[in-house]
Amino acid sequence: MPSLTLPDIAPLLTWYPTAARDLPWRKTKDPYRIWVSEIMLQQTRVEAVIPYYFNFLDYLPDVAALAAAPEELLLKLWEGLGYYSRVRNMKKAAIAVMERHGGVFPRTYEGIRALCGIGDYTAGAIASFAFDLPYPAVDGNVMRVVTRLCGYGKPITDPAVKKEITAAVAAAQPKDAPALFNQAIMELGATVCLPNGEPKCGECPLSPVCAAHRAGKETDFPQKTKKAPRRVEKRTVLLLRDGARVALVKRPAKGLLAGLFEPPCLAGFRSAEEIAALFAAVGLTPLRVAPLGEARHIFTHIEWQMTGFEVILPEGAAAKLDTCAAFLPNGLFFADREELEQRFALPSAYRAYRAFI
Ligand code: ADE
Repeated sequence: MPSLTLPDIAPLLTWYPTAARDLPWRKTKDPYRIWVSEIMLQQTRVEAVIPYYFNFLDYLPDVAALAAAPEELLLKLWEGLGYYSRVRNMKKAAIAVMERHGGVFPRTYEGIRALCGIGDYTAGAIASFAFDLPYPAVDGNVMRVVTRLCGYGKPITDPAVKKEITAAVAAAQPKDAPALFNQAIMELGATVCLPNGEPKCGECPLSPVCAAHRAGKETDFPQKTKKAPRRVEKRTVLLLRDGARVALVKRPAKGLLAGLFEPPCLAGFRSAEEIAALFAAVGLTPLRVAPLGEARHIFTHIEWQMTGFEVILPEGAAAKLDTCAAFLPNGLFFADREELEQRFALPSAYRAYRAFI
């Protein structure tokens, strides 16, 4: 017996068909499509995922296509979704499916779980949704539902606590309806049992059996331990123009936003005068340096604070930049609008400056 026990969840299973959102990945049993949706949904809202999901499947309709896809295309299809290692891992997993499973998506929990980038949650979701196998799929939404239902106050950031919650969810899962149960509890967390002080308990089929609701303490759950504060990085973003083209650099192959393209940046906040002086010092006095405003982007562990400038270069300067301007990153090149739209993936951290590009 798990130490944590869920109350009777039967009303959840009759509620779900009346309340479920109409989502494209719920209309398929194809494990590849379900996998794509689950990976996209890991860090991204449902509404944002839908167009990416369709576009990705248009270009890469099956595992074989994904296994053969060039990295540049993968990054372009993922552009704006963030957490790009997700799609790189998918490609590795697709290659493994081709090489080790004869191109057929594995049909067991263990086979699915062994694929690159697939953890307990995603393996449980694919196993249950595609193959009706009785495995739980416990994500943040489900943990919130369970901690509230049970009035369970241990911090969910502790892996042992997650294990305990997963065991309780597995025990409550009806073995003849694993997919319905997983979808329903996820849906409750996503649409009713909301975070940040606004659960819709009046619409919840489980409110009569919810310990947190009965105590009027919904927002006390789940408990989390405090995270370390994010490191702040200040950067100056340069939109260097050479006629209709704009300068880009490729980020390093490892680390944050690995392999994506970005406008060249300088560390710290620089003024228009300082930027003009840097270029003037190497004989490339810009025709114009104009501020584009400030922006901020928050990653898991880092916060970028940015200030942007458009720098219009004199004719012929672009060709000299990479060799003479040591204050700019190596490997700088110029791309036109079509290449930017079709080919080079820019992180959404630069969203505020994208329109100027
Ligand atoms: N979030 C994660 N998986 C989901 C799914 N299958 N449907 C809706 N939201 C989700």
